[in-house]
Amino acid sequence: MISVNNVHKSYTTGKEIIKGVSFEVQDGMIFGLLGPNGAGKTTLMQMISTLLAPTSGLITIDGLNAKDNLLEIHRRIGYLTTEVRLDPMSTPDKLWDFFAELYDIPIKESAQRKNAIFGNLGITPFKNKRINELSTGMKQKASIAISLIHNPPVIIFDEPTNGLDILTSKQVTDYLLDLKKDGHSIILSTHIFSVAESLCDEIAILVDGKIAAQGTVDELTNLAQAKNFEEAFFKIYVENHVEE
Ligand SMILES: Nc1ncnc2c1ncn2[C@@H]1O[C@H](COP(=O)(O)OP(=O)(O)OP(=O)(O)O)[C@@H](O)[C@H]1O
Ligand SMILES: [Mg+2]
Repeated sequence: MISVNNVHKSYTTGKEIIKGVSFEVQDGMIFGLLGPNGAGKTTLMQMISTLLAPTSGLITIDGLNAKDNLLEIHRRIGYLTTEVRLDPMSTPDKLWDFFAELYDIPIKESAQRKNAIFGNLGITPFKNKRINELSTGMKQKASIAISLIHNPPVIIFDEPTNGLDILTSKQVTDYLLDLKKDGHSIILSTHIFSVAESLCDEIAILVDGKIAAQGTVDELTNLAQAKNFEEAFFKIYVENHVEE
């Protein structure tokens, strides 16, 4: 379980970017973070992934916190950022083997997992191509596979379908649903409403560093008295955004 408790973050003194955010994600749940550019989604996900320390507040993964259990938390988290840079001269296959060794994954297990994930995400046909010869979507799929190399129970994906066509996007969202069925807890951010609607058990709408509303797609739509989720998002944004 992921627990985020009254988390605040300032990059510079006097300007708070995350202003007291709390939520919980149970095992086997997909939790969506939606919000306009600059709302603080990436900042929040970097803090949950321990890459960034909160200014105050507490984040725990299965009861463990980054201060006391950093290594164990890293073992439990798979994090996909929007700014991954894979070695341009390597290949998906070689990168997988490199990271598998880094994570001490036994060779046989690594080969099995590689085949399964590469198959599920459709990476196999280009697994021996150089990264600098891959399309945006191919690179994204390779990044997703490698972020899951250690089979982490907790998955934090920042805009996983960014730049993907609808076919590739569906491969990724279907795969996330499989992972959810296997009991993984997943936090994802997205700007794509259909992705949020088809995947998320619960959604938090982040506006100016605060959760403006939280619930299922239906709950949020009813709450905003909107005719669909997209309209609900706009209404919730307009009601909560404050110009500085
Ligand atoms: N390293 C940093 N130093 C200072 N300010 C930062 C830093 N990273 C992000 N910010 C600021 O924090 C705020 C939130 O940024 P963040 O990247 O978390 O938003 P986001 O919700 O992920 O947006 P997007 O949808 O564009 O990805 C923005 O105002 C941004 O300028
Ligand atoms: Mg972001």
